[in-house]
Amino acid sequence: MNDPISHKLFERAQALIPGGVNSPVRAFRAVGGDPVFIARAEGAYVYGANGAQYTDYVGSWGPMILGHTHPEVIKAIVAAAANGTSYGAPTELEVRFAEKLTQLYPSIEMVRAVSSGTEATMSAIRAARGFTGRDVTVKFEGCYHGHADFLLVKAGSGLATLGVPDSAGVPSSTAGHTSTLAYNDRAALRELFAARGDQIAAVIVEPVVGNMGCVPPVPGFLEEIVALCQKHGAVSIFDEVMTGCRVALGGMQQRTGLTPDMTCLGKIIGGGLPLAAYGGKRAIMQQVAPLGPVYQAGTLSGNPVAVSAGLATLERLDAGAYEKLEHLASRLEQGLLAALARTKTSGHVQRVGSMLTLFFNDGSPVRDWADAKKSDTERFGRWHRAMITRGQYFPPSQFEAAFVSIAHTEADIDATVRAAEEAMLERA
Ligand SMILES: Cc1ncc(COP(=O)(O)O)c(C=O)c1O
Repeated sequence: MNDPISHKLFERAQALIPGGVNSPVRAFRAVGGDPVFIARAEGAYVYGANGAQYTDYVGSWGPMILGHTHPEVIKAIVAAAANGTSYGAPTELEVRFAEKLTQLYPSIEMVRAVSSGTEATMSAIRAARGFTGRDVTVKFEGCYHGHADFLLVKAGSGLATLGVPDSAGVPSSTAGHTSTLAYNDRAALRELFAARGDQIAAVIVEPVVGNMGCVPPVPGFLEEIVALCQKHGAVSIFDEVMTGCRVALGGMQQRTGLTPDMTCLGKIIGGGLPLAAYGGKRAIMQQVAPLGPVYQAGTLSGNPVAVSAGLATLERLDAGAYEKLEHLASRLEQGLLAALARTKTSGHVQRVGSMLTLFFNDGSPVRDWADAKKSDTERFGRWHRAMITRGQYFPPSQFEAAFVSIAHTEADIDATVRAAEEAMLERA
């Protein structure tokens, strides 16, 4: 199934780039085989270096909600680039961008643009620490918040064990400031606050997890995070880098009506260019330099080309777009469930809006990392390889969410479901 062109490129890449890729999951190690090298993309499709067409459910890991090369987005990028690609000075575009984000996310009273989701979460937590004068960050196992040292931590089992680094190169003293709990475990969260509430600076959460596969919050979980933070003077942070403008224009906070203290955004708000943001309560954001003592900066922050791509994308996301996404993603979900049933394959599909995951498991719902881990990753790998040969480009890991864009059509979804059913029957 490996195409010779991608194979040759991968060999050249591996000689010079760690694992041949600039971000690990792209290497296809979780599913086997060579990664497909992409030459171009348009609408719902990406095209391999060998010219093959794939229906794309990766969407650059989330940003491409309009599909690839949307004409209005490309026009905005070209027009902005013609005026200069970076000034390192303030622009009207950044003011418009801040106005747009604060309008879409009423919980955000002040906002700072950065260049990646990692920078957004790292900076939000620094601001929360500066604001509270406390050190401890609470996160949930299976949630990914970028690769800052203190967020690459997964605790051992049990309540609030001291953090153990998940990556070499993270000092244990840094990891020691992070407590990790099971996602959706309200009781554990309550116990942690009861024991250490006065040390907790922030609780950061993916309000729908995308990074262990799509895992929604149980009713009351997000509410409890916000309420406990408020009670104990800690900062609640919704990491909506993935869910922001994805599950609704105003993210999961719009769907739940919740008001977190801070929010991190990325992916869609940059329209496929490197742009992210963090923001929240004015009193917290006033801690950020040059207003306050929490330092955070960036040469390319608020880059005019990226902001133009982001604004052009956001302007096209209206109620009709979300209705279409819901319709198409629901069709994909129903189709995959029917394919599982017809092929007598055991598995489970979880979906929130246009993000979804097909878990190859015993059919039970996945509520946390312990559940997700029970999935048959070898089976997923086999299915994924069979999908690639059928021109279907799904995220190359069981523990990722697939994304539908408004460029997909019902015919695309139906073809994907037919391919998925065939792929479920493939044994090798
Ligand atoms: C929820 C979440 N937060 C943060 C990040 C990090 O964003 P970036 O890869 O832009 O640094 C990601 C990336 O996938 C993410 O899904």
